[in-house]
Amino acid sequence: MKQSNLKVLITGGSSGIGLALAKKFIDNKNTVIITGRDLAKLEKVKSDNPKIIFFQSDVTSEAEVKKLADDIDQQFGGIDVLINNAGIMCLLDTGNEANDLTRQYAEIDINFNSPVRLVHYFLSQLKKSKEAAIINVSSGLAYVPFAQAPVYSATKSALHFWTRSIRLHLKPHNIKVLELLPPVVDTPLAHAADIAEDDNLKPMPSEKLAEAFWKGYLNNKEEITPGISTQLKLMSRLAPNFIFKQLNKQPIPKK
Ligand SMILES: NC(=O)c1ccc[n+]([C@@H]2O[C@H](COP(=O)([O-])OP(=O)(O)OC[C@H]3O[C@@H](n4cnc5c(N)ncnc54)[C@H](OP(=O)(O)O)[C@@H]3O)[C@@H](O)[C@H]2O)c1
Repeated sequence: MKQSNLKVLITGGSSGIGLALAKKFIDNKNTVIITGRDLAKLEKVKSDNPKIIFFQSDVTSEAEVKKLADDIDQQFGGIDVLINNAGIMCLLDTGNEANDLTRQYAEIDINFNSPVRLVHYFLSQLKKSKEAAIINVSSGLAYVPFAQAPVYSATKSALHFWTRSIRLHLKPHNIKVLELLPPVVDTPLAHAADIAEDDNLKPMPSEKLAEAFWKGYLNNKEEITPGISTQLKLMSRLAPNFIFKQLNKQPIPKK
């Protein structure tokens, strides 16, 4: 994989993993464009990291994604690398009929439908690049479901299967398809879901995650599995029931 002089688009780059990846690409002399919904968060990132370019754009809006593709094409002449990173995680009890159905639909739309949408609208730009790559950020939970986050685990598993399939479709077009499957990382998402507070899970700092990503990316590794994600991948094949029970010892939260 080429290290520098690439135009990189990262969805959801205003915090956590997306921001750490943005800084890594900036440090390696690339043009980095990030997106997000919250303008104040994007402006704060810009004031801390003046080289980062941002567009306020919601990945779930067909019109906004189409406009983003048009604007980037006009202003930058297209992208080389698309990183589908934007995501949310909800812990919930499916047995509780009062749980928030809208949030579950949003989780599916952001985590799974949106990468499909982004690839669709940026495909023509990626086809024109000589260094084209798509990087989908799924999760170690794509290998083993975390029952406390049932919709989340399902979206990440769907993203994982879709990523493996489209790799074959896009190879003849010289578009590489990589997948980053993080473990628990110390980000606002993990804190909001309370998983970063679980001492057993030991969240990885986002800078360390970005280091592991960079190593895998430079080596053209199709599935980058930092930290415990490597064990989750292995155990999901060797002892799927055992690892499922290990990961799901905690009671389902009353949410
Ligand atoms: N942290 C972990 O433990 C962990 C582990 C495995 C995988 N992951 C995955 O890593 C990715 C990044 O997560 P993170 O932990 O870095 O979370 P985060 O810090 O909460 O960042 C999520 C980013 O996505 C953006 N976003 C959310 N919904 C969006 C939408 N509809 N349109 C555009 N942007 C949107 C957020 O900005 P706005 O809210 O302003 O839009 C923010 O920039 C996610 O796909 C997540 O599933 C995280």
